[in-house]
Amino acid sequence: MADHANPHQHRILILDFGAQYTQLIGRCIRELGVYCEIYPWDVNPLRIDEFDANGIILSGGPASTYDDETPIAPDSVFQMGVPVLGICYGMQTMVSQLGGKVENADHREFGRAEVEISLANPLTGSKGKTLEVWMSHGDQVTELPQGFDVHGTTENCPYAIVVNESKRFYGVQFHPEVTHTLKGKEMLSAFIHDVCGCRSDWVASNIIDEQIRSVRKQVGDDHVILGLSGGVDSSVVAALLHRAIGPQLTCIFVDTGLLRLDEGDQVMDTFVKNLGVTVIRVNAEEEFLSQLQGVSDPEAKRKVIGNLFVTIFERESRKIDNAKWLAQGTIYPDVIESAGNKHGKAKIIKSHHNVGGLPDDMALSLLEPIRELFKDEVRRIGVELGLPENMVFRHPFPGPGLGVRILGEVKKEYADVLRQADAIFLEELYRHNLYHEISQAFAVFLPVKSVGVVGDNRAYEYVIALRAVETVDFMTANWKRIPYDVLEIVSNRIINEVRGISRVTYDISGKPPSTIEWE
Ligand code: XMP
Repeated sequence: MADHANPHQHRILILDFGAQYTQLIGRCIRELGVYCEIYPWDVNPLRIDEFDANGIILSGGPASTYDDETPIAPDSVFQMGVPVLGICYGMQTMVSQLGGKVENADHREFGRAEVEISLANPLTGSKGKTLEVWMSHGDQVTELPQGFDVHGTTENCPYAIVVNESKRFYGVQFHPEVTHTLKGKEMLSAFIHDVCGCRSDWVASNIIDEQIRSVRKQVGDDHVILGLSGGVDSSVVAALLHRAIGPQLTCIFVDTGLLRLDEGDQVMDTFVKNLGVTVIRVNAEEEFLSQLQGVSDPEAKRKVIGNLFVTIFERESRKIDNAKWLAQGTIYPDVIESAGNKHGKAKIIKSHHNVGGLPDDMALSLLEPIRELFKDEVRRIGVELGLPENMVFRHPFPGPGLGVRILGEVKKEYADVLRQADAIFLEELYRHNLYHEISQAFAVFLPVKSVGVVGDNRAYEYVIALRAVETVDFMTANWKRIPYDVLEIVSNRIINEVRGISRVTYDISGKPPSTIEWE
């Protein structure tokens, strides 16, 4: 095996045929402690050779192997002498490319199924066992290539697991990467560890060590600038770079005045007081509020906030002499080249606060120390680097901040009220152990007045809406069934403690059709 520049020599390559689950395979392999990358199926085969995998996984995908111009794995995949695991379509194309047959199944199979193991193998263990698995296919294998045997069947699928033992080729019709396949993770672990012989050396401490080495080598004695927002990705980059290059890092934290309660102080406490990072805090509340005056259209507000952010960031960056690098919290899902997105997003600069990057005349080079990592890995190394858990496991917060959670025109009075209501809501979610069950929760300010009776007086005051959703990918979301008792406590507290609010409502709209944010 080739000697790679980085120490995670054991590595798995995932060829993507367009399944929605491909990233799950990658995250699962990384969680099992082995480095992997995802390439589109039609990548230049030379890159596959160069990657020098210990094993290759062919993902599922929406195509049928018997269609014209169907995606296939480069032949070299089957000639390299490394183990191959084909999942669903990946299995079908392997079988078909090696001389077997795949046809449209009489019975489509979607959902749970039981596989009976008819021949023992390293992935599933002994004969006679049954496994609960997740199926999602309309085609299936009907004839095996030479050298393959059936190792598992379901009621509707006679070739649920097929194996060529001498070549170490495995095919499974089901999806081991989804949690509905009960022993799926064990199967993937058996493939990468027992069959491919990979060591588990992709763990948080090694990732940090390796990134530190690589950052030091890349930047030498140069100075680096980082836009710190308090979000997970930029926070982890700040902590990582601080450990790697200490005083050569300067962070710029633009306080837009549209942050959550005490957020600016918390960022300064964490980074400056506790970690000793150099952070320039720019108190730009007045500038943002004055430019937002009279702007009520959501997209117009986003533009104002994004543009002003760039202007201020640029102004502050110019004050830092000798800066050669601009660090960014780009992560792996931002840059993955998948089959559905063949050209990748690698060239897009992450729209941090909708920032489009700095002007060319600043001639800064991009430094992206976490671009190989999935979000859960970023969180893990954040904890390892000593960042507070409530920062690392925080719900996402949009770049324009409270600017899109105050409907219509943004005013300081509204932002102050919203901050207090939002903090009460989040505090109660933490107190009732609900925060981590929810993907994103926040309060929204509605600038309409409704009647209430506060004390003995009638009050004519503003409305707060509460939003809490559960989602995996933020593309679709369900509203969280928060217990009524908790909602009651939150509502009472907001009305009693926040002046100017006399009514609280709970948002019960799913996405689609509603979006998560109100604007
Ligand atoms: P929607 O509202 O589109 O939100 O359902 C999906 C996710 O995206 C976040 N979001 C934004 N993030 N700038 C951002 O950085 C924005 O303008 C923006 N708008 C929405 C939202 O908070 C949710 O996590």
